[in-house]
Amino acid sequence: MKMLYQGKTKDIYDKGDGNYLLKFKDDVTGTDGVFDPGANTVGLSIEGAGRAGLKLTKMFFEKINQAGIATHFVDADIENATMTVKPAEVFGKGVEVILRYKAVGSFYRRYGMYCEEGQELDSYVEVTLKDDNRNDPLITDEALEMLGIMTKEEYTLLVDLTKKIGNIIKEELAKKDLELYDIKFEFGRVGADKHVALIDEISGGNMRAYRGSEYIEPLALEKIMLAE
Ligand SMILES: Nc1ncnc2c1ncn2[C@@H]1O[C@H](COP(=O)(O)OP(=O)(O)O)[C@@H](O)[C@H]1O
Ligand SMILES: [Mg+2]
Repeated sequence: MKMLYQGKTKDIYDKGDGNYLLKFKDDVTGTDGVFDPGANTVGLSIEGAGRAGLKLTKMFFEKINQAGIATHFVDADIENATMTVKPAEVFGKGVEVILRYKAVGSFYRRYGMYCEEGQELDSYVEVTLKDDNRNDPLITDEALEMLGIMTKEEYTLLVDLTKKIGNIIKEELAKKDLELYDIKFEFGRVGADKHVALIDEISGGNMRAYRGSEYIEPLALEKIMLAE
């Protein structure tokens, strides 16, 4: 199989049958050997991290597909830590969509003069550019359109899908007594009609979750979510 892209935590291959294969690696992002999902460099390798991330991703994507929301997910091979997906065309060189239920992280760092840490937010959606050299800058819908990254219609759809998908994840976490504070998604254009679909992964590192006032780190979150 031809490798198309070597990412920080996954590699992409062309299966040659119209689908792509995502290989989940045990590499996780971080700095100075400490796991940090928000970091833009590979920090360390944790045995089993790829497989755990894939298991959670599979569970969530199946739920989202069942809800009738378009995704790239076809199937997953947990043993080999691979996921078969439909090829997507990303917006520009890739964007990330952040959905916020509570004011933490970069939102609080930016707007702390106007909110309390952990303050309730009404499913607030932000889009950032995947641009490691520029620390993934925030971008407005107007700039997205002006720079030819996505149309207004695509943006509107993407925000709507983000809120629907977020609700599904939030409810799944709530079943395990976990509260979702924020979550990050990727979308792309899939199929001949180039419809907007959820792509990439949804693992522990994509979200911030709390149990009461305790932050649950990504690997612990995956363990809790995958336990019977
Ligand atoms: N269905 C898909 N089609 C094309 N590209 C995809 C698809 N799903 C995910 N990707 C891309 O594959 C890459 C996954 O590897 P990853 O290690 O997460 O990369 P990155 O270092 O860019 O975050 C990401 O760049 C993501 O945008
Ligand atoms: Mg990634």
